[in-house]
Amino acid sequence: MTGQIPMRVLTGPLPCELAGCGVGEKRAKVLPDTGGVVAQVLLMFLFSSADNNIELQQLLNRIVQQRLKMYPGSARIDLSSSFRDMDSTTAESILNEFCGLRYNRSAALSSRVTGGMDTSWSSEWPWQASLQRNNIHRCGATLISNTWLVSAAHCFRNAKNPQKWTVSFGTYLRPPLMVYLVKTIIVHEKYRYPANEYDIAVVKLANRVEFSRAVHRVCLPDSDEIIPYNIDAVVTGWGALNNYGETPNILQEATVKLIDTNVCNRREVYDGVITPGMLCAGYLEGGVDSCQGDSGGPLVTPDSRSMWYLIGIVSWGDECAKPNKPGVYTRVTYFRNWITRKTGL
Ligand code: ARG
Repeated sequence: MTGQIPMRVLTGPLPCELAGCGVGEKRAKVLPDTGGVVAQVLLMFLFSSADNNIELQQLLNRIVQQRLKMYPGSARIDLSSSFRDMDSTTAESILNEFCGLRYNRSAALSSRVTGGMDTSWSSEWPWQASLQRNNIHRCGATLISNTWLVSAAHCFRNAKNPQKWTVSFGTYLRPPLMVYLVKTIIVHEKYRYPANEYDIAVVKLANRVEFSRAVHRVCLPDSDEIIPYNIDAVVTGWGALNNYGETPNILQEATVKLIDTNVCNRREVYDGVITPGMLCAGYLEGGVDSCQGDSGGPLVTPDSRSMWYLIGIVSWGDECAKPNKPGVYTRVTYFRNWITRKTGL
């Protein structure tokens, strides 16, 4: 990662700035009902104490009504039918099974200013993994289930023996939060070094990861999803801080913009070598980019519900952060069916 680290992007119609709101909106189920539909939405709120139920219900009602004001149309809200109290351990284990959720960042931030961040608690990018050979960080990877990760094919060039690899999680490379052995490495059958096409691989862990607040999976987009350009995405990794720089111990993040393939294929940019399986992200003016060692790691964007989706895999670039040479990523939607064929996910 190179360049300054911009502010984290927070999007979505339901930011959690209202009192009592914890993790935000979760999945909705829409069922037919007389004269319309009924939408069941799981909402979770974190309250400091177990206040009395009636007051809580009224408060929740007010929050939900207020949020719905931004949307046209009318909905009848019936909280009483489904409102129930849940202890935080149960709530958290439900949340950890969802893909692409990040926890309350303000808590992690405040513990940072008071010094000493608890790594077992505050992985900000819980799907980020480090792929290591002989305990040396080589590449990034992204957790997509309890046992599978996606990474880049070029990370395994001349190094396809799973026994030589380990995978670590957590914000810091040293000490790692958790380390897993690798059982299987599947490199895309059409990947041919030094070509950059088909730069994708999936890695199966020898043991299952039990999801926690600190380590859980990202969401995968559907293969037919259209990824708009000009939107913000975040790339994370332990890659070099500049073109010949060293590996930082703490995970870095950078916000980059998705670049139209037509623009990226311009003569002065990458002159036609960007194929449909690739995606450009960064800034034509340069300055912020992923870099050596970030390869295989995630490029993610949040959806309107603040659930994060893997849209790219760090793949290649002409040096790092140079003008007209943005980062090039493996386009995940293009390989979504390949991922399913190899992993069943
Ligand atoms: N191939 C590099 C690696 O193995 C990643 C390059 C990304 N470059 C860029 N300018 N975004 O780590």
